[in-house]
Amino acid sequence: MKTIKDKDIYCLIGNPVSKSLSPIIHNSYFELIGENSIYFTFEIKEEELELILEAFKILNVKGFNVTIPHKITIINYLDEVSENVKVLGAVNTVRNLNGKLIGFNTDGKGFLKSLEMEKIDVKDKKILVLGAGGAANAISVSLAMEGVKSIIIANRTISKAETLSDRISSYFPKIEVKYDSLKLENVKKKEVDMIVNCTSVGMYPNQTESPIDIEGFKENLIVYDIIYKPKKTRLLQLAEFKGYKTINGISMLINQGLCSQEIWLGKKDLFFLENFEKIRRIL
Ligand code: ATR
Repeated sequence: MKTIKDKDIYCLIGNPVSKSLSPIIHNSYFELIGENSIYFTFEIKEEELELILEAFKILNVKGFNVTIPHKITIINYLDEVSENVKVLGAVNTVRNLNGKLIGFNTDGKGFLKSLEMEKIDVKDKKILVLGAGGAANAISVSLAMEGVKSIIIANRTISKAETLSDRISSYFPKIEVKYDSLKLENVKKKEVDMIVNCTSVGMYPNQTESPIDIEGFKENLIVYDIIYKPKKTRLLQLAEFKGYKTINGISMLINQGLCSQEIWLGKKDLFFLENFEKIRRIL
């Protein structure tokens, strides 16, 4: 029988991490592809971060995911980061390549893959992004890279919406970028093609809340909520009631995980869709 000593080690670091679905996703994936590896979670405090990364090098941890609150600060302790991390300023995946820690971000790619699976083309579309935190940042940049026509960032703290919209404008000067509060007072609702909720409003245990009033949008609106717990947020319930197409966060979650795996294993997953479906059934 193989012992844990024979296995390659992967993990998630963050605080809190106890509710994360990443161990299920990655351990199921390792089993599916017959990889002799194991994925743990480690609750790490800010002041422990640097030391932990040194320990990971010594223990030859092959790769790890990074979540709140370390996605930005970890960049200071990595040996290298990918091009899209330079734009985004946040890391969610690290590969240990012969003792060199390299940072990547698969949140945006995971989001785009989920759109591709739903056969949604965002090119030349007008997108309303709710939120201005880490997830909103990754998703807005990936939407800009796909060539959307316009992005409106709406956030509770308006100064953060302004900062993110300035950031996108500076990298993508051809895209029209605006910002507003969650009251959407300056948004021409009928022109919006898709809403992406990147705030935590509606997340368990506050599932009775919706980040915005869903009234006044056009008929064929798409409403995407990146929250996956609950699977159908209040926003998605209200949108479904209106007859809009709705998407929840499960697909993005699995996709960003599978994109991390591609980075760690250093190869494309030839059975990506098949493995995606198998993991979706497990969750
Ligand atoms: P993540 O990395 O998941 O994006 P984050 O960076 O903490 O997490 O961002 C959380 C987002 O949810 C922010 O846009 C936050 O708005 P503020 O910038 O105003 O803090 C938003 N958010 C969290 N709680 C909220 C609430 N009760 N009402 C409205 N927006 C909220």
